[in-house]
Amino acid sequence: MTPLTIILLLTAVITCQAFNLKTTRADFPKINLQRHNGTDPNLAYSPPVYPSPWMDPEANGWQEAYAKARDFVSQLTLPEKVNLTTGVGWMGERCVGNVGSIPRMGLRGLCMQDGPLGIRFKDYATAFPVGMTAAASWSRNLWRDRGKRLGRTHYQSGVDVQLGPAAGPLGRNPTGGRNWEGFSVDPYLSGIAFADVITGIQSEGVVATAKHWLGNEQERFRQAGEARGYGFNISESMSTNMDDKTLHEVYAWPFQDAVHAGVGAFMCSYQQLNNSYGCQNSKLMNGILKDEYGFQGFVMSDWQAQHAGVSTAAAGLDMTMPGDTTFNSGLSFWGGNLTLAVVNGTVPEWRIDDMAMRIMAAFFKVGRTVGNQPEINFSSWTQDTFGPANMAAGENIEQINYHVDVREDHAYHVRESGAKGTVILKNNGVLPLKKPKFIAVVGEDAGPNSHGPNGCSDRGCADGTLAMGWGSGSVEFPYLVTPDSAIQAQALQDGSRYESILDNYDWEKISQLVARPNATAIVFAYAGAGEGYINVEGNEGDRQNMTLWRSGNELIKNISAINPNTVVVLHTMGPVEVDEWYDNPNVTAILWAGAPGQESGNSLVDILYGKQSPGRTVFTWGRAHEDYGVDWLREANNGNGAPQDDFEEGAFIDYRHFDRDYPPGSEKAPIYEFGYGLSWSTFDFSNLQVEKRNVQPYKPTTGQTIAAPVLGNFSTDLADYTFPSDVRYLYQFIYPWLNTSSSGEEASADPHYGQTAEEFLPPGATDGSPQLRHPASGPNGGNSQLWDIVYTITATVTNTGSVMDDAIPQLYLSHGGEGEPVRVLRGFERVERINPGESRTVRMELTRRDISNWDTVSQNWVVTPFEKTIWVGSSSRNLALSSVLP
Ligand SMILES: *[C@@H]1O[C@H](CO)[C@@H](O)[C@H](O)[C@H]1NC(C)=O
Ligand SMILES: *[C@@H]1O[C@H](CO)[C@@H](O)[C@H](O)[C@H]1NC(C)=O
Ligand SMILES: *[C@@H]1O[C@H](CO)[C@@H](O)[C@H](O)[C@H]1NC(C)=O
Ligand SMILES: *[C@@H]1O[C@H](CO)[C@@H](O)[C@H](O)[C@H]1NC(C)=O
Ligand SMILES: *[C@@H]1O[C@H](CO)[C@@H](O)[C@H](O)[C@H]1NC(C)=O
Ligand SMILES: *[C@@H]1O[C@H](CO)[C@@H](O)[C@H](O)[C@H]1NC(C)=O
Ligand SMILES: *[C@@H]1O[C@H](CO)[C@@H](O)[C@H](O)[C@H]1NC(C)=O
Ligand SMILES: *[C@@H]1O[C@H](CO)[C@@H](O)[C@H](O)[C@H]1NC(C)=O
Ligand SMILES: *[C@@H]1O[C@H](CO)[C@@H](O)[C@H](O)[C@H]1NC(C)=O
Repeated sequence: MTPLTIILLLTAVITCQAFNLKTTRADFPKINLQRHNGTDPNLAYSPPVYPSPWMDPEANGWQEAYAKARDFVSQLTLPEKVNLTTGVGWMGERCVGNVGSIPRMGLRGLCMQDGPLGIRFKDYATAFPVGMTAAASWSRNLWRDRGKRLGRTHYQSGVDVQLGPAAGPLGRNPTGGRNWEGFSVDPYLSGIAFADVITGIQSEGVVATAKHWLGNEQERFRQAGEARGYGFNISESMSTNMDDKTLHEVYAWPFQDAVHAGVGAFMCSYQQLNNSYGCQNSKLMNGILKDEYGFQGFVMSDWQAQHAGVSTAAAGLDMTMPGDTTFNSGLSFWGGNLTLAVVNGTVPEWRIDDMAMRIMAAFFKVGRTVGNQPEINFSSWTQDTFGPANMAAGENIEQINYHVDVREDHAYHVRESGAKGTVILKNNGVLPLKKPKFIAVVGEDAGPNSHGPNGCSDRGCADGTLAMGWGSGSVEFPYLVTPDSAIQAQALQDGSRYESILDNYDWEKISQLVARPNATAIVFAYAGAGEGYINVEGNEGDRQNMTLWRSGNELIKNISAINPNTVVVLHTMGPVEVDEWYDNPNVTAILWAGAPGQESGNSLVDILYGKQSPGRTVFTWGRAHEDYGVDWLREANNGNGAPQDDFEEGAFIDYRHFDRDYPPGSEKAPIYEFGYGLSWSTFDFSNLQVEKRNVQPYKPTTGQTIAAPVLGNFSTDLADYTFPSDVRYLYQFIYPWLNTSSSGEEASADPHYGQTAEEFLPPGATDGSPQLRHPASGPNGGNSQLWDIVYTITATVTNTGSVMDDAIPQLYLSHGGEGEPVRVLRGFERVERINPGESRTVRMELTRRDISNWDTVSQNWVVTPFEKTIWVGSSSRNLALSSVLP
């Protein structure tokens, strides 16, 4: 892709029809998002939390990294520290994000590269399954392995910080554009997958990034500029408004797991939360993340998500990406502005020291050493071998792509993960296929993209089989095994007859083909989704509806009307409406194959032919889009101001909503519930045992932090920070120096220059004295007692069928009390290869956090006095065993 196309994509101007869904929840209480005393009393408000917490030298797992970082940072000058915090500008160097280097110390500028399912823009690299497909395997072994393989992919390419995985969006809106980049709409499942992938990535020497913090649940309105491009005249990005309890128990939950797993980086989000931008929201960054969760790593901005200089530093931002105010402006809120802000006393020295400490501690924590970073062997901006190392400036032409093959044997993992993450929703006995006489494959979703697997920039089109979403979370396919080619290969091996029509509209030929005797018709259909800067057929990231694309429903209905053995395969980025045809007896099987990455066809064959055991759905399949009770905000509802998206449903999304509003037997009960999926055998659950562990009573955290350390000193003479004469200035490049020494005002060119911290920062923002600890706080994910194991639960799972198979027992808990979900997932295990007749014991553990609720008054987790019940079974609505917690 050329730089120009990227920029054009970002400014694409396309309008589309929009409509509102009626929500059906009038009879249930809505969460009252209390309006506070912000600038506008009618808008949700985020309270100030200052000062920004500094690192804790005693944080478990970070002590050694802290000591190394302190030794390193203590030797740095102020511009060198600033270099660590500020990107060199969009396309300034080879990675999607690069910060300045410290040549004097031998540190090459850190390279930040997308994304959650591989390495973006690099050739000879693996295209893994999307997160949602990986999640559907419910396999912790596969998640850890995914992380390690992603980590190695990035390490071998020279990347220091991988921009993934994602757990936000969580998936509140079933048609949200980027849900597939994360794992599951269930916070517990998502949190475990998130932590496992992070652990894997970091074990290979690469810093993982937990993103996006927080509330980035839809694409439309996430950035005001992007929305204006789509014809919405708004001056500010949208605000996601959610209450404190929902934040802790649902949306932030997996991020707490990420901190507990020792993640090195966080990325703050584009949109606002309670009308404060993600990258300057002090409650989110200082308060919840760094104080309460005790996060020791660094927070970087999403690309162009920083909207202010000093106030973002005070609110807890540690690194600005890609460094310029807007792409290629040549100006920065930080860089020279940050140097100046420290020199003139607006940003306290301890804050810049803490930023540098957090960045270097993350670097050392994953085992990196200064002077020994792997070479960056690719360029994000061209696939040519030679080109400008500084693309924006067009300078320093040299070899920038070494075409290094970093695929190792990841293809085996991809194939296995894609297969084990495929969900069998229906099977009347046709599966596994046994050398069928005649296979008729129909649908463009079975075939290749007519422009090649990478025919559309950032996978932003609908052409051929869907194996990945679009946007910055996509990668280049090294190849793409289509279902058509893989099924044909198997058919030939079996001596089956095989024909395919890779077109959804050639009804004459399709009807002739599937009506022939003995035809096993395998019909493919899809529904894609992606990031908001690309519009694919009227879908500006978010899916505009929950139906299949390209008349997929009609195709399935028409074929099953004339073919008695119709197998449906769906590649979708979440639920789609299947109500019109799922119960037709001619539809003999339905498979959800998610978006499986480069081995798509092979993974599918492994399930169709019963060579692998499938997964379970990680979201609910309701009858209609409306039944989900929530939808992404479609219209600007606040004049020219920030559109307001109130999460009035609180915790009641996906199965929590269906379980409360549409119990089994009711008209709108889901077709396939969360956690559901068929497999090759049958299982029995028995012998539920609950053991209460002896743990100390919970003690709120007390005491004080240390005072903010100050590492080194700096001169206040502006002349010491002017642009050095021996450095060649690159066009649009961001440096830590000042362009002039005559006056700060001139150097900054800040229209509001001269305001002191006291004048525009909230009280306490510059206070470096010891601070009281938050009652729920502790390094590594909050009060350490939250992670105490309070119950051990065991159950027996027996294979009562006739083939070896994997079982996926699930544990659900009801917290009891008013206004709580009927039940929530709190345990699971993929128990592999159980022989017929064999029994295995599964063991699941409940932590204190698992059985607690967030108490908004004490600002802490509490185990409420209500009776708590647990269930164990095969899905959220098929729960054979239950017990009350003693
Ligand atoms: C807002 O501030 C005013 C003046 O300080 C106070 O009287 C009022 O109670 C506050 N309202 C809220 C909702 O906090
Ligand atoms: C957002 O506002 C709600 C009340 O309307 C409050 O409960 C919550 O703590 C606020 N969250 C943040 C991060 O500001
Ligand atoms: C900051 O980084 C840039 C780009 O790598 C480099 O040219 C410059 O020398 C660095 N400045 C300092 C003070 O190390
Ligand atoms: C957008 O809204 C602003 C403020 O109301 C108005 O001044 C401006 O003309 C509008 N722009 C367009 C293109 O409608
Ligand atoms: C400094 O930041 C201000 C905004 O706070 C911006 O307007 C200005 O252009 C920046 N200066 C430089 C030299 O980047
Ligand atoms: C200090 O510098 C920063 C960054 O340019 C600027 O925003 C701020 O207004 C300055 N403060 C004073 C007191 O000059
Ligand atoms: C194939 O079709 C013929 C004609 O309808 C039928 O007699 C035969 O039983 C079918 N064989 C199989 C294996 O389904
Ligand atoms: C839903 O969106 C898809 C993709 O844009 C489109 O093909 C389809 O026609 C839409 N369905 C309905 C019912 O509007
Ligand atoms: C099932 O297929 C047969 C043709 O084999 C057709 O006659 C029948 O109407 C179909 N049934 C349904 C419910 O579509």
